[in-house]
Amino acid sequence: MAQPTLPRHVAVIMDGNGRWARERGQPRLFGHQRGAETLRAVTEECAALGIEFLTVYAFSTENWKRPQAEIDALMALLEFFLQNELPNLMANRIRLKTIGRIHDLPDACRTALDAAVAATARNTSTTLVLALSYSARTEIIDAVRSLCRDAAEGRISPEAVDPGLFASRLHTAEMPDPDLLIRTSGEMRLSNFLLWQLSYTEIVVTQKLWPDFTREDLRAAIAEFQRRERRFGTV
Ligand code: IPE
Ligand code: IPE
Ligand code: MG
Repeated sequence: MAQPTLPRHVAVIMDGNGRWARERGQPRLFGHQRGAETLRAVTEECAALGIEFLTVYAFSTENWKRPQAEIDALMALLEFFLQNELPNLMANRIRLKTIGRIHDLPDACRTALDAAVAATARNTSTTLVLALSYSARTEIIDAVRSLCRDAAEGRISPEAVDPGLFASRLHTAEMPDPDLLIRTSGEMRLSNFLLWQLSYTEIVVTQKLWPDFTREDLRAAIAEFQRRERRFGTV
């Protein structure tokens, strides 16, 4: 039976900034700037709707292979976004968290991130999770290594490794798995995002490019989710 309940956790692959800018004869950075505005609107809408977790793919491990000028511009935009958005995050009681190898980021970004995470830690509305320098395979390998170390040093037996223990070693340990994944710009792939956590997530792909994605598009994706029948392998 379809369930009218809200997703607890929405994950988003924010894609299409570059194409959005190119369609307007603008540099890719222009699309990223507009994409940051979309993120603000979508985060506020999640808070208004009462979504507990919003996890957004902001920068993948593979994105480090882009031209240095684009990487530098994205990092500068991230730092600006964090400083600029803090009053808005506080006003909407949004809690900020990160997943990914945060130590890969430039010092200025890490400092801004640490400050925003600390300042918002007691907020009780939506938790906005930024996936930065994130790759699901890297996350899984890190979890496997930590379990192997524990087993090799006798702290756990190999038989103790089960889905619950494994998930507790992932960056998403204290979050429920996403109920709904939205990908913009029409690409039908996961691009190394939350491979473990998305096992039973409902996927909605929209043709809209991320800078064009609106609060109404978010509500439409949630309505689509609510029409789905989730079976989790049962009948
Ligand atoms: C998504 O937009 C933002 C990041 C990956 C940082 P893209 O930059 O991938 O835009 P397209 O896919 O080239 O249009
Ligand atoms: C996925 O988008 C990563 C982010 C949205 C941050 P990409 O644009 O990097 O992914 P591919 O290259 O289309 O798979
Ligand atoms: Mg892309």
